[in-house]
Amino acid sequence: MTLPDAQTVTSVKHYTDRLFAFRVTRPQSLRFRSGEFVMIGLMGDNGKPLLRAYSIASPSWDEELEFYSIKVPDGPLTSRLQHIQPGDQIILRPKPVGTLVHDALLPGKRLWLFATGTGFAPFASLLRDPDTWDKYDQVIMTHTCREVAELTYGREIVESLKGDELIGEMVGDKLVYYPTTTREQSPKMGRITTLIESGEVFRDIGIPPLDPAVDRAMVCGSLAFNLDIKALLEKAGLREGANSDPAEFVVEKAFVGDGV
Ligand code: FAD
Ligand code: A2P
Repeated sequence: MTLPDAQTVTSVKHYTDRLFAFRVTRPQSLRFRSGEFVMIGLMGDNGKPLLRAYSIASPSWDEELEFYSIKVPDGPLTSRLQHIQPGDQIILRPKPVGTLVHDALLPGKRLWLFATGTGFAPFASLLRDPDTWDKYDQVIMTHTCREVAELTYGREIVESLKGDELIGEMVGDKLVYYPTTTREQSPKMGRITTLIESGEVFRDIGIPPLDPAVDRAMVCGSLAFNLDIKALLEKAGLREGANSDPAEFVVEKAFVGDGV
């Protein structure tokens, strides 16, 4: 091992020219809660590690670690990271943190997971965690992307759940998958925020509007998306929670946008 905190890439799958997923070996000592993120990266040209925050997309029981990544053409890290191959090494700082964890929510009946784009990553972990299915009667996974192909990674995870040896039976009929697109035709069009405001999502699923007594939510997307969903959740009477102060919803940025 030549890199500090080096882990070896075990597989890579490209989904679109902007999205790919990869798996790496897991440090034996790494413990994390599903939904948390770590710093990963490559050695920079200046000999210093070039690190970025990445949600762990695999569940906490998995032997390997999975990540779901954007490819930013001129991005310092992902312009290079997108070319990794099995056998290559990446740097992984084994210090998981984050707010999208069950501990930050009070007990509830229904869990909403709201994602846009690569914001699906922490939910790929949580959806494969037995705790998620143990704690809730219903789990609603919404994923909004511009184009249909950008939904594929999430759809594959969702479709794998029922046949999963560990959690398949627990999932049962509890899961509602609600993918939407905004810039390419698909069975359900529109921003999830618009579909909440109009009440369409509740009519589609056949459930009452958001209610702080039963509904819990986790949010992960762009800053603009997070702010808009947060406003809708607060309007419905849900309060933002944290590890130290659990409440009805939690939010995390899927990336730090320009000027933020
Ligand atoms: P950067 O210089 O970091 O970013 C360049 C620009 O690209 C940004 O200003 C932004 O406009 C855009 N951008 C960056 N990341 C994204 C993204 N994910 N989706 C859309 N646009 C983006 N990225 C992932 O791909 N997967 C993850 O699981 C993930 N988890 C994150 C968790 C947290 C808590 C945070 C803060 C960020 C996370 N990111 C994730 C973003 C990641 O840290 C990097 O920004 C991303 O890998 C691009 O790195 P870069 O050096 O190539 O470009
Ligand atoms: P739209 O196409 O209407 O902008 P992005 O790639 O810009 O991060 O967006 C990913 C998805 O999230 C797109 O479908 C986009 O819809 C949607 N989106 C972006 N901003 C918001 C927001 N503030 N509220 C709801 N959805 C949003």
